[in-house]
Order: sequence, then C-alpha cells, then structure tokens
Amino acid sequence: MGNVVIKTLKYSIGASSYDTVGSKAMQVKKALRDYFPSKDYMRRLGVCVFEAEANMAIHTTSGGELSIVIYTNRVKVVAVDSGPGIRDIDKALTPGFTTAPEMALQLGFGGGVGLNNIKRFADCFWLESTKCGTTLIFEVWNDDIT
Ligand SMILES: Nc1ncnc2c1ncn2[C@@H]1O[C@H](COP(=O)(O)OP(=O)(O)OP(=O)(O)O)[C@@H](O)[C@H]1O
Ligand SMILES: [Mg+2]
Repeated sequence: MGNVVIKTLKYSIGASSYDTVGSKAMQVKKALRDYFPSKDYMRRLGVCVFEAEANMAIHTTSGGELSIVIYTNRVKVVAVDSGPGIRDIDKALTPGFTTAPEMALQLGFGGGVGLNNIKRFADCFWLESTKCGTTLIFEVWNDDIT
C-alpha cells in the first residue's frame, strides 16, 4: 500500500531567484497538507523541500527542477539541476561550509547547514554531482501511515 504513488508535482526553480525563494516549498506544503495531517511530518518535509529549493535558486547557473512524488506514506523529492555542480561533496556536507554569493549572505542564506538539515530530517538521502549538474534525492517517511 505504501508504495502506491498518489500524485507527482513538478516545479521549476529559477537561478538567482532570491525574491521568490521558499515559494515553491510553500506551495508543496499547501498541496500536501490534505494527504499528511501530522504537523511534525509537514514541518520536517517543509524544511527539506525549502533547503533543496534554496540550493537550486542560490547555487546553480540555470536553475533546476523539483519533483515531489507523493506516496500514501511518504514523499520522495528529486531535485535536478544543470550545474555548475558541487566540486567536493564531503566539504559541502561539512556544517558551516558555504560558497554562497554575497547577495545570498545578505539575505540570511549561506549558513552552510541546508544539506545537513535535509540529511538529518530525511529517511533516505542521495546526492551526486558532476560539472554537468547535481541530483539530490531524498524521502521523508510518515511512519504514522503504513
Ligand atoms: N545544487 C547545487 N549546485 C551547486 N552547489 C551546491 C548545490 N547545493 C549545494 N551546493 C554547495 O554545497 C554547499 C553547502 O550547501 P548547504 O545547503 O549545506 O549550505 P548553503 O546553501 O551554503 O547555506 P544554507 O543552506 O545554510 O543557507 C553550498 O555552499 C554550495 O557550495
Ligand atoms: Mg543551502
């Protein structure tokens, strides 16, 4: 039952779209509220989607695509972009490490904790990157629903 896909939502994230960062995460939360009434679950999922969205808005040269696959008991998030890629994934996963540009720092981004937050809240976390782009896949499970 848990493996049944209910719906897939897709969003485009623009590069350097500082003024709208978080808007897609907000839309996702609204769309998913009816499927997952648990506030704690929606909080965990919301943080993860926000961080994935922010990274594509801030760190990519041409934006990316965010897919949200809704299952009965979990959500799979796939974030794909076309570069420039992460040169050193271990470094990128080190809390505090950031290459955020000045503009992002001024807006309060660049704490170097986004990927770590996703890793902490998600049940599965997969990150791969080359100069052709970055693919981030994670799932957040709602254990209340089997
Ligand atoms: N999609 C991406 N494309 C290229 N580089 C990325 C991407 N996502 C993350 N990075 C790199 O990994 C680093 C760490 O990302 P992370 O989300 O943990 O922190 P941050 O975005 O720098 O700051 P914060 O998320 O706290 O605002 C980034 O500074 C950037 O160098
Ligand atoms: Mg980030």
